[in-house]
Amino acid sequence: MKSTFLPLLLAGLVIFQSCSNKSSESSESTTETQALKIEKTDFGKLPDGQTAELYTLKNANGMEAKITNYGGIITHLTAPDSSGVFDDVVLGYDSLAGYLKSSPYFGAIVGRYGNRIAKGKFALDGKTYTLAVNNMVNHLHGGTVGFDKVLWKAEPIEGEEPALKLSYVSKDGEEGYPGNLNVTVTYTLKKNNSLKIDYTATTDKATVVNLTNHTYFNLTGAKRDILDHQLTLNADRFLPVNETLIPTGELKPVAGNVFDFTKATAVGARINDPKDQQIKYGGGYDHCWVLNKKDKELSLAATVYEPTTGRIMEVQTTEPAIQFYTGNFLDGSITGKKGTNYPKRFALCLETEHYPDSPNQSAFPTVVLKPGETYQTTTIYTFSAKK
Ligand code: BGC
Repeated sequence: MKSTFLPLLLAGLVIFQSCSNKSSESSESTTETQALKIEKTDFGKLPDGQTAELYTLKNANGMEAKITNYGGIITHLTAPDSSGVFDDVVLGYDSLAGYLKSSPYFGAIVGRYGNRIAKGKFALDGKTYTLAVNNMVNHLHGGTVGFDKVLWKAEPIEGEEPALKLSYVSKDGEEGYPGNLNVTVTYTLKKNNSLKIDYTATTDKATVVNLTNHTYFNLTGAKRDILDHQLTLNADRFLPVNETLIPTGELKPVAGNVFDFTKATAVGARINDPKDQQIKYGGGYDHCWVLNKKDKELSLAATVYEPTTGRIMEVQTTEPAIQFYTGNFLDGSITGKKGTNYPKRFALCLETEHYPDSPNQSAFPTVVLKPGETYQTTTIYTFSAKK
């Protein structure tokens, strides 16, 4: 009796483990180790005939990140709600074709310079460089073909915390920037439900670098807009902008105005304040906050809480600032994954970075990278839920 019952019980346990989305960190069964294999599928063809791949990273809890080597785009990212149910919390398209047609930088790596450079010009070592003007009168997110629109070399790294290492060589003069820039971006899906992004770059000529990721988050799982998401920013100051969204140079205290997110506040609570000139310029929030921190330490920059699902996202970074953008330019013209339409303010971006227009504003922390130096930054998005 005993000898036939035991194998049956064990088999039952293995089946239960492989069907369950939840597992404790201490149980390291073979089933879990297999689940951490990185899957690679064809994501579609680029106009030049090259193929983009889609990599699926999974952790033992059942969290999934899908990343394509086209633009280093995070196409899917799941996170648990308060009942442990995972749902996709980022905007994007089902296939490469959508990204090729038109994308407001959904999920992408942004560079060589994320955010704006006034009038597409800057001077370095006595030479003036001219970049594409692709956003009103300014340069935005690296230009016409930025790092979001190139094919990266991908190296999947399997393990308990699977990772995808992407590399790209941006040639001297590409998009007007000086220096051959060797860039790597490594995405790691951690055991504790965080997605860690490590950026490095080296150059053979002095240049400017400001890399970030442009994921559009919606913690409801894209069920409704983000106006009820509650945001906390660890920032006592922000950068007011002019009408073309270039910082004026002032670091303005948030105390007493609609930019104060030092305590958890609904994103929509003050977003349409008719009296605030800065809100008018941005069409909502589209500004950079200066983080309270010591130089380059990895510290908590932002927390987002979504009350209907209980989902929480925490953002830690080594960067000095964060651009908080409320999807003001989404207008319902895009239908994304699973046929979901994306109207205004259907997602929020928290782009960790240096200040916009730093190459032209000498009082801002420097973004110059010189030969022999290594640019190195880390940002971590961690997901949990209120029980
Ligand atoms: C900018 C917005 C811009 C958006 C593009 C954000 O980083 O701050 O102004 O419209 O990127 O999708």
